[in-house]
Amino acid sequence: MSSSKIRLGILGGGGNSLIGVLHRIASSMFDRYQIVGGVFNPNWDDNIEFATSIGLPTNRIYKDFNSLIEAELQLPKEQRMQVVSILTPNFLHFPMAKKLLENGFHIICEKPLTTTYQEAKELYTILQEKKTVFAVTYTYTGYPMVRQMREMIRTGVIGKVQKIDAQYYQGWINPIIHDVEKRKTTWRLNPEKSGISCCIGDIGTHAFDMLEYVSGVKIENILADLNHVYDDNQMDVDGTILLRCSKNVKGVICASQIATGEENSFVVKVYGDRAGLKWEQENPNYLYLMEEGKPLQVLKPGHEYNSKLSLDGTKLPPGHPEGIFDAMGNIYKGVARAICNESFNEGEFPTITDGVRGMSFIETAILSHKKGNVWEAVDQNYKL
Ligand SMILES: NC(=O)c1ccc[n+]([C@@H]2O[C@H](COP(=O)([O-])OP(=O)(O)OC[C@H]3O[C@@H](n4cnc5c(N)ncnc54)[C@H](O)[C@@H]3O)[C@@H](O)[C@H]2O)c1
Repeated sequence: MSSSKIRLGILGGGGNSLIGVLHRIASSMFDRYQIVGGVFNPNWDDNIEFATSIGLPTNRIYKDFNSLIEAELQLPKEQRMQVVSILTPNFLHFPMAKKLLENGFHIICEKPLTTTYQEAKELYTILQEKKTVFAVTYTYTGYPMVRQMREMIRTGVIGKVQKIDAQYYQGWINPIIHDVEKRKTTWRLNPEKSGISCCIGDIGTHAFDMLEYVSGVKIENILADLNHVYDDNQMDVDGTILLRCSKNVKGVICASQIATGEENSFVVKVYGDRAGLKWEQENPNYLYLMEEGKPLQVLKPGHEYNSKLSLDGTKLPPGHPEGIFDAMGNIYKGVARAICNESFNEGEFPTITDGVRGMSFIETAILSHKKGNVWEAVDQNYKL
């Protein structure tokens, strides 16, 4: 009997990658996908060795991305890959996504969507015609308590939103940036592979997407002050960005990869005129509700007081901590529902619109900084 699982291909995410294991486990979490092949590594021996090491048959492991498309299109539709996850360095997202889209595949693409805003808009235009499912993995939106934050703000629990604030601090680039050789050989600091930004493109974009996802306000104008630390380094590794948003809301995004000693400290705060909500990625199972004149309340996943969207992202009874793998699993689950034409909540996975807005944000931040820290507009033509 043939499997009813969605046939998934993977590009990138080989043994040495940071993100590959997260996607593989996420795709297996709800028994909706079967990995049928891919290109895990541009080096053929590494590619085959890795596929074998994870127990995949090698007949659909391809030498490169073009061979994958060519060979898959030769297969009958009921055997062909239905969706392909793009987990490569940023500069490959666009050529891969474009060709996959043109040939009718569904896509799950890592962020940032592309290396330029122009490329992102081009993908958006092709998608309007092809109408396949296109997810962009802003992973943190998959956490149950982030979903709960979104739903509480939507239903008015904190009142009218009046301030948004996201701080995303890491320290991993600190030892690299101070070593001339290392800073020349890390792909994230190479504009040809990473795009025009390092810190804002890599983590500032998570903060941007998250603030819009939870608060429901649109970030319209920004003023960025970035730091490259060394004159020979073309890429930002730290930045503070002031935000002016819809509904008279203002806010700030602070992002850094030189916050020495920090691991993955992503803290999101939204304040309304009645209460505030705070969520911290390193303690993702706690959502803090701060109400005027009342003791702090801590909400946790799996309880009936949570919204349907949040509860849908929890697999175990309260008290069994779930984490980043589960968050990505929730995104894959939403994508599976969309691919199979089942009903789903639009908060279940970020789409190409998030990806396009993210690229506009990155380019606008760089422009604002380059022009001497001036206010610049984020393109509002691609509203969610
Ligand atoms: N959603 C998140 O929170 C999150 C976290 C980390 C990374 N990312 C994104 O994931 C992407 C990959 O980042 P990473 O840290 O895993 O990078 P990495 O350098 O650790 O791994 C990249 C992988 O791509 C493979 N690769 C390179 N060229 C290829 C090609 N031509 N064909 C097939 N495979 C190829 C490499 O062999 C490697 O396995 C980036 O876009 C990054 O922004 C997202």
